[in-house]
Amino acid sequence: MNFEKEYALRLEQIDSYLNGFFIRSDNKFVETINKSMRYSLMASGKRLRPILLMEFSKLFSKPCMYIEDFAASVEMVHTYSLIHDDLPAMDNDDLRRGKPTNHVIFGEATAILAGDGLLNYAYENMMDCALKDWENAIKYLEASKVIAEASGHKGMILGQVADLMNEGESVDLETLDFINLHKTGDLLRASMVAGAILGGCNHEELLIVEAVGKKIGLCFQIVDDILDIEGSEKEMGKTPGSDEKNDKTTYPTLIGVKKCKEIAAELVDTSISGLQDIDGDTLFIEALIRFIGERNK
Ligand code: IPE
Ligand code: IPE
Ligand code: MG
Ligand code: MG
Ligand code: MG
Repeated sequence: MNFEKEYALRLEQIDSYLNGFFIRSDNKFVETINKSMRYSLMASGKRLRPILLMEFSKLFSKPCMYIEDFAASVEMVHTYSLIHDDLPAMDNDDLRRGKPTNHVIFGEATAILAGDGLLNYAYENMMDCALKDWENAIKYLEASKVIAEASGHKGMILGQVADLMNEGESVDLETLDFINLHKTGDLLRASMVAGAILGGCNHEELLIVEAVGKKIGLCFQIVDDILDIEGSEKEMGKTPGSDEKNDKTTYPTLIGVKKCKEIAAELVDTSISGLQDIDGDTLFIEALIRFIGERNK
């Protein structure tokens, strides 16, 4: 399998799906909010969450018809979180996905509303999946609940609160695990779990995906924090040094980059071995997990 080629195909597929969610309008108000939402959504992201969702769905034998729409919705939730994460009141960053951040272009108020708009549109589209494919409505509802819980005040938002409260504080590894597992890990894990549910997994398989998802989520944020120290702006499309600027303690500041790379590599290995208990072709997912652990963007 040629990972680069397979990954590029999936990126193209997600982007063309996302594009289809916005129709142009002559109304200047509609166009203002749509333009701002589209600006961040269609900028070049890695699309890891929708890709993971679709791949985990494919592992099982009863896939749902509107899986692409559902996957696109998860990317909307993620993009909303990026727009808000970059706001002056949060990380105050100027570059995202290789472009000036949403608030730099559209102003803070519109950026907040664009984030809110993407979040609501995501759930509108997830519910639409259930309505269009009524036979599978329960699966879409279960998967939507997984995403809502993971991105809400028990998941990503909780992690973001903990992240902000720890600026300038001395933080231990246990607290960092809490932050990382929630602010980032939860939505990644939930994307895999939602995919598995939509694909028709059984309870045992769900538990395996949960456990693997948790490790991948943690690994993802450890690598994000390493890249914030040694990554390149050109590759990442965001400015390194954001954590230092905001006086955040992260895994690498606490235990050093070298140890973090070892932990990330171990999480990659144990995630991949965890997958072996699932019947089905996991080759692409394994390569994607390696990419998550070794990426430079
Ligand atoms: C960045 O996520 C924000 C975090 C959760 C750390 P990604 O690195 O997946 O960002 P995109 O989607 O590729 O832009
Ligand atoms: C962001 O973590 C997590 C969410 C967006 C929920 P970071 O603040 O580390 O993400 P980047 O580095 O800005 O992408
Ligand atoms: Mg942040
Ligand atoms: Mg940030
Ligand atoms: Mg970061």
